[in-house]
Amino acid sequence: MGDESTDETVIICFCYNVRKKQILEAIAQGATTLEKIQDTLCASTGCGGCEMDVREILAQDKSLEKK
Ligand code: FES
Repeated sequence: MGDESTDETVIICFCYNVRKKQILEAIAQGATTLEKIQDTLCASTGCGGCEMDVREILAQDKSLEKK
């Protein structure tokens, strides 16, 4: 609670206004690598400052993927 990193509407990539929710949706649609996120949303193709955040979201989501 009160942890903004869990807020799905938080903007992750300020260069391209990409929200966490969009990244999660892209991952759900198969963009499971940083490169695919870049291709799909342009996130992390500008200043690169959000790359760590994108990677973190990917890492978190991959752990959910294990079935
Ligand atoms: S904040 Fe994402 S590339 Fe600059």
